[in-house]
Amino acid sequence: MSAVLDGQTALVTGAGRGIGRACAEGLANAGARVIAVARTETDLDELQTHASDRIETWSADVTDDAFTERVQTIAGLSILVNNAGGNRPQPFVDVDTESLDFVIGLNVRAAFRVAQAATRAMLAHGNGGTIVNMSSQMGHVGSPKRTVYCMTKHAIEGLTKAMAVELAPHGIRVNSVAPTFVETPLTRPMLDDPEFRDFVFGMIPMNKLASLDDVVSAVLYLVSPGASCVTGHSLKVDGGWTAQ
Ligand SMILES: NC(=O)c1ccc[n+]([C@@H]2O[C@H](COP(=O)([O-])OP(=O)(O)OC[C@H]3O[C@@H](n4cnc5c(N)ncnc54)[C@H](OP(=O)(O)O)[C@@H]3O)[C@@H](O)[C@H]2O)c1
Repeated sequence: MSAVLDGQTALVTGAGRGIGRACAEGLANAGARVIAVARTETDLDELQTHASDRIETWSADVTDDAFTERVQTIAGLSILVNNAGGNRPQPFVDVDTESLDFVIGLNVRAAFRVAQAATRAMLAHGNGGTIVNMSSQMGHVGSPKRTVYCMTKHAIEGLTKAMAVELAPHGIRVNSVAPTFVETPLTRPMLDDPEFRDFVFGMIPMNKLASLDDVVSAVLYLVSPGASCVTGHSLKVDGGWTAQ
């Protein structure tokens, strides 16, 4: 039986751990050939060992020009999951310039340039494509110690909408997924703090974190033919956090 993404080539950034890794595995299980990108080779080796032979790993830094240049040359690229991102929670008045530049550089500048490079690859073959930018519920609301992160994820929401409008005539759909907290190596240290964990659960009407599967399901829907008329959308996977 053919899988829904048979014949598709997908690029997933930040795929060594957490959400990106789950997305790479989910896309491969749905039939896509996947290029999984992260810097830490041991994470990629582990992914390669446990995952389908449809996953190829690239050890690369998404902020490097060499990486974006390579992305432009991917033959037949039809799916991008633009996921690599990070956070350094700090009170607004204490945000240091190095952290500010780091988070903007990764979450906005690199995400923009990777999306641009992937779009060039899609335009080169002329068969359209689909892009999912990994946003956050923090792309829709504010939260304490998250001014920089919220700013960058709001930027991702703006990028998603503007790309969707401009690229629609080329058959390229652009959406975002906006999860609430998911337990990953990024958030585990935050969620280990009982006070913070209580705050998070208190904000989620469904009283549960999003799972990796919840996020992967949203990504798979957006890249599937079932979403062929969906573009410029932000699919919140937030248990109701932002509905209040
Ligand atoms: N976890 C959550 O609660 C949550 C909620 C909403 C949104 N998000 C978003 O989801 C995305 C993934 O989050 P996560 O929690 O899965 O993060 P994570 O556990 O920290 O994993 C991030 C992945 O990105 C890679 N990465 C980081 N910087 C990179 C770079 N410069 N070049 C290439 N790869 C890089 C990391 O590997 P290397 O360090 O080896 O490169 C790792 O594989 C982020 O955009 C985040 O903002 C997360």
